[in-house]
Order: sequence, then structure tokens, then C-alpha cells
Amino acid sequence: MNAATSNLSVPTGASAAAIQHHYDVGNEFYQLWLDRSMAYSCALWAENEQNTDLEQAQLRKIDYHIEQARAKGQKRVLDIGCGWGGILKRLVTDHNVEQAIGLTLSEAQADWVQAINHPHIEVRLESWLDYAPTAPFDAITSVGAFEHFVKPELSSSEKIEVYQTFFQRCHQWLNPGCWMSLQTIAYGKRKPEEVQKLPGAKFANEEIFPESNSPRLAEIAEAAEGIFEIVTVRNDRLDYVRTLEVWLKNLRAHRAEVIRCAGEAVFIRYERYLYLALLGFLTGDLLLLRLTFRRIG
Ligand SMILES: C[S@@+](CC[C@H](N)C(=O)[O-])C[C@H]1O[C@@H](n2cnc3c(N)ncnc32)[C@H](O)[C@@H]1O
Repeated sequence: MNAATSNLSVPTGASAAAIQHHYDVGNEFYQLWLDRSMAYSCALWAENEQNTDLEQAQLRKIDYHIEQARAKGQKRVLDIGCGWGGILKRLVTDHNVEQAIGLTLSEAQADWVQAINHPHIEVRLESWLDYAPTAPFDAITSVGAFEHFVKPELSSSEKIEVYQTFFQRCHQWLNPGCWMSLQTIAYGKRKPEEVQKLPGAKFANEEIFPESNSPRLAEIAEAAEGIFEIVTVRNDRLDYVRTLEVWLKNLRAHRAEVIRCAGEAVFIRYERYLYLALLGFLTGDLLLLRLTFRRIG
């Protein structure tokens, strides 16, 4: 990320190199344990659903954000941290959106979305910090990217400064009165400083998601204050337990192929990471927030 374009006095989150360390392990690797939509964030399970069809729960999540952002039938929609393009595809194929633009820092993801080769989808290998849109947007979604926007060594007030910049940009890019839907992991019942001391957090920071750290709900609220009205907040942490259970099952079921395409060390690393994350959501150290914002003014 480019500090010069951000006007920030603090360093921002994960660099392109750090993001690529994680996401560019290879598309084939992720295909082995994600569902067909390649959604790499918490799904939305229906209440009391017995079904374990992850693809259906991911589609429900995608449609939830499209609905919350009031993106259906709009002209221009931005997806910040678009991953392998699940939201972008759904916007243009099922929700009549004229132009869906996605930002990612992962080359493998950008190539994947490019290969969809849809005339109404544009993918950019660019951080939101450096992005300068040529026209305003009618809706914004951002799912599972906010966790990458700050580094672990920042203080809470420094994190808020980065998040404020994010919300200011989104405010600037959205047309008046428009909506944004955001999903992020957040710290839960324990203070971030306490969780950071746990061996699992150290492992995740060093080996899984370098240069990244999650927010607290209060930090998001403070950063958005005055420019976005928070309309709804949901904490669906148990939905992440279910999603992680399916990912873990898939990873283990494809052990031999995972080892063939990414190596045994990667298999061991991801198995540990998915299991520790599952425990975090189960115990409430980690929350899964889905927030709906309306632009003020
Ligand atoms: C966990 S993936 C989620 C992808 C997708 N939204 C989904 O739900 O499947 C996080 C995404 O955030 C992107 N990302 C992280 N930091 C970013 C930044 N500063 N600007 C733009 N995208 C970023 C990554 O490249 C990746 O595409």
C-alpha cells in the first residue's frame, strides 16, 4: 500500500506481498476445500438448518450483502476485496447490475476473475487506498477484507485512523443516501492484547495472515461515526463454526491432492489454522460481524 496516497500518519494493513503470501498459494489449492463459488468468508446458514450444503449457504450470504447494500438493479457497484469474484458474478448475472467493479491484492484472484471474461465485470489488482474511481457508485460491498486493513502492532487509536480513512473513501465514492454492506471478523469477549498473546494468534499472524489484524466493533463504530449511519449489526459467529467445519472436512478429505499441489507443510499449516479459527468462533474470542451502513448526506 502506498502511504503517500493515503495521507495517513500510521502504516496501513497487509501489503500486496503479504496478501499474496496467503491467497496466491494457488487457485487449485483453494478449489480443493472451498465450495464451487470460491467464497472465502463466512457463509450464512439458515436458522435450524440441518443441511450442510456450503454452496447454498454461501449463495445466501452473497445475496444477503447484495440486498443489504441495495445493489439490485443498480448501475455501478463496488466490491472491496472481491476474492474470486463470487459477488461480482452474482451482481451482473442475477441482479441486473450494469457494472460491477472488484478490488483485490491477489494476482491469482485477479486472473481468475479476468478469466470469467464478463463484459460487465471489471477486476483491479489494487488496494482501496490507491483506488481512484472515475465515477461514483450506487452501492458498496466488502466481505472478509476489513481484517487486512491494519497491522497487529497498531494501537487502537491508530487502527481507528485507518478505518476512518476507509469510511471516508467509501463515503466519497458513494452517491448520496446509498448503502454499504460489510462483513468482518472482530475481536469478541477478550481484549485484543490478551488474544494476541495466545500461541494460536501468534501462529496466525506469522504464518497465515501476516501484517493483518481484526477490528473491535467499537472501533468500527467510532470510525464510521458522522459519515455513515449503522443500520444493522449481526454477530453470526456460530455461522463461522459451521463454515469452518465444512472447510476442515473438505481439506482433510482431499489431503493427498492438497499435498500434491501445495506440499505437506501447507496442509499442516491450514489444518491447524482452520481448527484454531473454529475454536476462536466457538468460544467467542472471535465474532463474525455483518454490518449495514447508510451514507449520511
Ligand atoms: C478473505 S478474502 C475474501 C474474498 C471475498 N470477498 C469472499 O468473500 O470470498 C479477502 C480479500 O480482501 C482482499 N484485500 C485485502 N486487503 C485489501 C486492500 N487493501 N484492498 C483491496 N483488497 C484487499 C484480498 O485480496 C482478498 O481478495
